[in-house]
Amino acid sequence: MSTDADAQLNSESESPAPARRTGRTAERRIDRRSILRPGDGSMVIFDGVTKRYGEDVVGLDNISLSIDAGEFVFLVGPSGSGKSTFIRLLIKEMDASEGTVIVGGRDLGKMGRSKVPYLRRGIGCVFQDFKLLPGRTIYENVAYALEVTGDAPKSIRRKVPEILALTGLSDKSDRLPNELSGGEQQRVSIARAFVNHPRLLIADEPTGNLDPDTSIGIMQLLYRINRTGTTVVMATHDRDLVDKMQMRVIALEGGKLVRDERSASYATVEP
Ligand SMILES: Nc1ncnc2c1ncn2[C@@H]1O[C@H](COP(=O)(O)OP(=O)(O)OP(=O)(O)O)[C@@H](O)[C@H]1O
Ligand SMILES: [Mg+2]
Repeated sequence: MSTDADAQLNSESESPAPARRTGRTAERRIDRRSILRPGDGSMVIFDGVTKRYGEDVVGLDNISLSIDAGEFVFLVGPSGSGKSTFIRLLIKEMDASEGTVIVGGRDLGKMGRSKVPYLRRGIGCVFQDFKLLPGRTIYENVAYALEVTGDAPKSIRRKVPEILALTGLSDKSDRLPNELSGGEQQRVSIARAFVNHPRLLIADEPTGNLDPDTSIGIMQLLYRINRTGTTVVMATHDRDLVDKMQMRVIALEGGKLVRDERSASYATVEP
């Protein structure tokens, strides 16, 4: 990524899109688009959250924690510990069996299905397998995220090149996803997740398919996005990345919260 792109990303405020607009009409439009309002400074609150799959399987077991707006949080733990379950509850892909999940001031248990698309507009999602549309170019993949939220063509033509530059993809915009490396494809999926400047970005094993050097590049991109004020929650198995970053680490095991430390490593540091 170029220095210019870094500077641009670093200079963004918490809500970059509205900050660039002027006039009351534009502000009203943004208000309607993002329903996340972390009134007390908390972006995510889990209060006694349990998620059961069927009768016997417990995905999450009585989790209580909060994540402040603007934080960067790693979610770690062995396979099956509940990381993806945590993330799926955040985007209301499913509801908690017990307890309360609040995202951006909204109690997701009380939110009707019709409001879910508005919730998701405020949340960018990045996954291990990129989830790009195979028959569409990189430009079209990113533009699609704006089309589905009803952005005007003129605004799309402005925002897509901007985000492709920020993610170092300008020269790849006409290619198809399978013509890119894994790291480049993940950059596209981050560009797509961030093009709406969401207040919350969640990433489930975003470096799971990437080599260590490429993973560091992806990590740096997510970190820069976090510096713009976007809250980032990243589930990962990658010990080296977590140890390098020294950010907050929430550790799960068997669905239980076993550790929540600021500026931590992947494994518990002995005193
Ligand atoms: N759709 C489902 N139906 C039944 N059980 C499920 C379902 N999804 C997850 N589980 C179970 O819930 C538990 C937590 O799974 P989850 O996918 O949240 O773990 P994870 O920490 O993301 O694991 P991994 O690191 O392998 O991605 C596991 O025991 C899993 O088998
Ligand atoms: Mg998972």
